[in-house]
Amino acid sequence: MPKRYEIVADYIADQIHSGLLKTHERVLSVRQCADELGVSISTVIRGYELLQDRMLIESRPQSGFFVSQRFELPQAPETSSPEQRPVEVNLGKLAVKIIKSSQNNQLIQLAVALPKIDVPAIAQLNRITAQIAREQSKTNQMITVDNISDYDSPSGNSDLRRKIAQRLLSGGVKVHPDEVVITVGCQEALVLSLNAVTKAGDTVAVESPNYYGMLQAIETLGLKALEIPTDAETGISLSALELAIREWSVKACVLAPNYSNPLGSCIPDQRKKRLAEMLENADIALIEDDINSDLTYDNHRPKAIKSYDKTGNVLLCSSLSKTLSPGLRVGWVVPGRWLEKVQHLKLCNSGANASITTLAAARYLETGTFDRHLRQMRQHYKHQRDYFLQLAAQHFPEDIRITHPQGGYILWIRLPKGVDGMDLYERALEEKIAISPGALFSVNQQYNHFIRINYGQETAQNLEKATILLGRLMREMMG
Ligand SMILES: Cc1ncc(COP(=O)(O)O)c(C=O)c1O
Repeated sequence: MPKRYEIVADYIADQIHSGLLKTHERVLSVRQCADELGVSISTVIRGYELLQDRMLIESRPQSGFFVSQRFELPQAPETSSPEQRPVEVNLGKLAVKIIKSSQNNQLIQLAVALPKIDVPAIAQLNRITAQIAREQSKTNQMITVDNISDYDSPSGNSDLRRKIAQRLLSGGVKVHPDEVVITVGCQEALVLSLNAVTKAGDTVAVESPNYYGMLQAIETLGLKALEIPTDAETGISLSALELAIREWSVKACVLAPNYSNPLGSCIPDQRKKRLAEMLENADIALIEDDINSDLTYDNHRPKAIKSYDKTGNVLLCSSLSKTLSPGLRVGWVVPGRWLEKVQHLKLCNSGANASITTLAAARYLETGTFDRHLRQMRQHYKHQRDYFLQLAAQHFPEDIRITHPQGGYILWIRLPKGVDGMDLYERALEEKIAISPGALFSVNQQYNHFIRINYGQETAQNLEKATILLGRLMREMMG
């Protein structure tokens, strides 16, 4: 349920977005608004503060509140057009270098895809974890069902698997808890899946641009990547994929259909169905990265491709890293017909998961508060997106292009001519701002004129400071 002051803010914001209130027009006074909506003066003041934070209204001394000037948003980048042939990935240590250099709490952090973590849900999770540790230190029994010092079962905590199976229903996926394998984050789920369906030298079709963790997994497993054109709104091009799998021998396809990283694209449901059928018919395994689906700005998460899977051809991977806590390292895979293989690989890879974090995650999900947390996060990220896009429209050079994602908290930005992403990254770091250079998101550094930004985590002031500075650096680099 939105709070009262948020209802006030939405009431005025709707009038602005629908054009009922025009730029520079006076907004209802605080008292008029309180009377009209039947709420207290202090509620209206909080609502108006929120509107100011969102840059929708501004206060003028002794005159009241007025609609702020809105800037026309930059367009989204064009559909990507990578070179379509299987190539060996050669990212080397670039990702490690960039992650390391960004790990400094003196920086304005726009680089790493971290969620907002100063939230009540994390405090609750910490209390649950402490409670588990206390319970265990009280009991003298060495072997209990949930003994956190014992090895967890290779498939992972059964309560957590049951909760995940329940949650997957909202994505249209019906699975038994025994079909779920708990992993160390989504990264392990992706690597186990790739390992299960490919062998060194095989080709894997991927969206372009792509999450660098996936590209690195492809690199270290000795696979080749075949980049497929991808649209910032509707995701991978089905026709390009169809042509590519006819031309090349493709063993697997890895996709993040909902709010991909870095494009934020979302494949429409009808296409998801066609994709599932196309890959099934071509006997190509589909590894689905479902990590951002719960971060939709809609009320309901979009469907998973797995929901159209009739034969177990889709391996669905996800985690709590983007929705709750990346430090928890709790992820899962629903490996379809590769279940036994993935269970075996999991045992060889890491034996089992950390018992305390999986138990804490299971108990947290049992509390039933996760959906409320998600609603708050979705609203927060949506506001932050609108705010950042307005800032970018105001402070970045004109020929910039930026995605408009409908979920998650990542933006993909095409830089003005003459500005190199790696140079901008270096110069921004000197100014204590961390961003991700586009070179990280492709097999042969073809996105050098892009950067990726996380708008979800930082305060409004820091976002403003960063956009002003980045805009200035870009102009300097444009000469
Ligand atoms: C699209 C995508 N998949 C997978 C991962 C890895 O997630 P985890 O931290 O759960 O291993 C990330 C992390 O940034 C991601 O952005």
